[in-house]
Amino acid sequence: MAGIAIVTGATGGIGSVFTDRISAMKDIDEIWAVGRNEEKLSALCDKYPGVVPVRADLSGGSCEILTEKLKAEKPDVRILVNNAGMGVLSAFDKMPAEQVIRICNVNCTAPAALMAEVLPYMTRGARILNISSVSSFQPNPYLAMYSASKVFLRNLSRAVGMELKSRGITVTAVCPGWVDTGMLPEEVNGRRIRYVGLMKPGKVVDKALRDSAKGRDMSVPGWFAKYFRFYSKVTPTKLIMMQWTAIVRNRI
Ligand SMILES: NC(=O)c1ccc[n+]([C@@H]2O[C@H](COP(=O)([O-])OP(=O)(O)OC[C@H]3O[C@@H](n4cnc5c(N)ncnc54)[C@H](OP(=O)(O)O)[C@@H]3O)[C@@H](O)[C@H]2O)c1
Repeated sequence: MAGIAIVTGATGGIGSVFTDRISAMKDIDEIWAVGRNEEKLSALCDKYPGVVPVRADLSGGSCEILTEKLKAEKPDVRILVNNAGMGVLSAFDKMPAEQVIRICNVNCTAPAALMAEVLPYMTRGARILNISSVSSFQPNPYLAMYSASKVFLRNLSRAVGMELKSRGITVTAVCPGWVDTGMLPEEVNGRRIRYVGLMKPGKVVDKALRDSAKGRDMSVPGWFAKYFRFYSKVTPTKLIMMQWTAIVRNRI
């Protein structure tokens, strides 16, 4: 039976690097690459012969095409990367309810549902990597939905990972700081933004894969994310929220 990997958001910055790295793994015959953009998906297929495109929008919280494909092919899933994610910098009271629901669905419901759907097809040694963020370490005003969704994903990963230990399946919550991808705007309101500790996606992905291979439940790449994790443990949450608010308020 073919060993397969599933990567959501495979067309984006971090997801495309996961696809690149996994394509070089000997025990993976196919990568089911989930994405919305047909052109970017076919570019991935051209570049990596093992990529199978799965065109899907996760904003409804589920991925029926993938569900059907799993049922039909009953593959041996070795790796699931729940990477697709979205964030909107906005005051919560300016966000339409549909956008609130979309963020919940893409960042929380879809990865949780995918884990549940994929687990019956996983055996000992299989791995799940859920891409959370340093935003999960504290609440972020004006990025409230994003930081709340990322703490959901981190806590879900760690709790389920503990449950799955006896099955020999690893779940790793990946918590990067700023990563140089299309998600980060270069400027806001005409002002260029400097991202402290900005990392290349390759470094984040390589560390995540190393940490998951070692059975770690968290992967915190780079000095900034490590420092921030420590800082959020020793600093009152209200103070961090005030500092964050002072930084972002004039960027809304
Ligand atoms: N960049 C950072 O600083 C940073 C830091 C910490 C964590 N993260 C997390 O890393 C993950 C990857 O983000 P990235 O930085 O690589 O950003 P990105 O380049 O914007 O990629 C995001 C990916 O998610 C997909 N996606 C978004 N909404 C979707 C939807 N409704 N249905 C299906 N796919 C959808 C995008 O697909 P389309 O191409 O179709 O839009 C894209 O492939 C996200 O979960 C993000 O929260 C990023």
